Amino acid sequence: MTPGFFKWSLVTSLLLVAFLFTQCGKPFADKGDLIYSTDASGLASPMGGVNPQSSLEAFERTVYQVTRQNCTSCHRSSQQPIHANDDSQVAHNALLNQYKINFTNPAQSRMVKKLRDEGHNCWSNCENDAQEMQDAIVEWKEMIEAEQAPPVPAQNFKTTAQSRTILAERDLVTAGTVIHTAMAGNATLTAPMVLRPAVGMNPAYVEAPNNGVDNNLGAADPAAGIARFTISSPAARTNGALWGLVNIGSTSDDSFYAGINAAAVQSWTSPVTNGLFRWMRMTGNHNLAVGMNTVTVRERKNGAQLAKILYTPDQNFIPGGEGTAGTITLRYPLDALGVAGASLEVKLEDYDAFSYRLSALRINTTRNLYVANIRVLLNGQYNPQHSNYTLVDQMVPAGGAPLSPANMIVLKEGGEATDKISFAFEILEFR
Ligand code: HEC
Repeated sequence: MTPGFFKWSLVTSLLLVAFLFTQCGKPFADKGDLIYSTDASGLASPMGGVNPQSSLEAFERTVYQVTRQNCTSCHRSSQQPIHANDDSQVAHNALLNQYKINFTNPAQSRMVKKLRDEGHNCWSNCENDAQEMQDAIVEWKEMIEAEQAPPVPAQNFKTTAQSRTILAERDLVTAGTVIHTAMAGNATLTAPMVLRPAVGMNPAYVEAPNNGVDNNLGAADPAAGIARFTISSPAARTNGALWGLVNIGSTSDDSFYAGINAAAVQSWTSPVTNGLFRWMRMTGNHNLAVGMNTVTVRERKNGAQLAKILYTPDQNFIPGGEGTAGTITLRYPLDALGVAGASLEVKLEDYDAFSYRLSALRINTTRNLYVANIRVLLNGQYNPQHSNYTLVDQMVPAGGAPLSPANMIVLKEGGEATDKISFAFEILEFR
């Protein structure tokens, strides 16, 4: 593969998906949660020859037609995701930011399952409506693909062995304790609850803005901001503990209400954390049902900040740093790929019921190693939606180095109990 060809293939076939289908708004600028840019001009500049408008235009002619026709009464502005907003760019970004569209498997999109499996506000017959939505997503995808050049064939890549299942990898660090996490970046929000981006070492979080006025709302106050997190569980669980990763500035900003599914929300007050995000246990014992669960966190005092939630049936479990708080590190020896002594590592978190988040991709090596165009494979398959790391093109010095500051959302396929992750490299060689 010549460098020229490599460059060409990157620009023409990968940039569009890299920028549009993942959470990667500013891949080279920002180390934190990368949120899909809601600013169309922000997308345009780094994309070279690819027309950044093509996904939007395709959306306007497909899914947007369906949502404008049938979903405006709630999803125009008040109800997240605002996929029927008057501004098509805002509607488009809301769907992609919140992972409601699965281009690899359109039938698995939340926008389709919401109609087919949950009968959510169908306009005629739910099965027909779901099919219409699915067809619109397929058409949206095909319109974008029509603008892409064919990707580099898989046989030209060097591929690692697969990890254990995500569940088995997690069991290694939590000694078998079951934990489920969900992150602020993917909560469904009701105003005034807002998402604040990650800055430096601080994670992205949600809060009801303080605006200099303290409040203390009741548990059912209609003006309260709400964050709804989704957790999917393979089994029913009872009497578990719910934890929040919170930053509490003062006792005027120290409370939420929280509850799971139909259970009444309970008031939860946290100690002050002095500017740091800390894991604090929420009030009470909580249950999970089999399948999808909604954890509702309501505003009590504005200014209280929440970055993550964690559920565990183990009353004695205390979330700490890496590993025990939902982040696991996957490690891949690369000896069998012709670079003896080198290894790849990446952090993985359970982002929410539908996705994992990868971050901190890194190579360890004892010799200078050139690496370019990395694909993440889920259960052995590459999905062009998962393309952030295809942009890697780097000489890693002896001693090792981080490869990409970008985080990447990987859509779950079978869930933690079956999903396995591996990596493929177009170029991986000592230099
Ligand atoms: C009568 C109001 C109403 C209408 C009309 C409505 N929705 Fe919703 N929608 C809601 C509410 C409330 C929520 C949040 C609670 C939930 O998840 O069900 C929501 C959430 C959602 C979500 C995100 C949550 C998830 O489970 O992923 C999607 C996707 C969605 N709606 C799709 C649609 C589509 C598609 C239409 C149009 C066919 C539609 N909705 C019409 C009220 C509505």
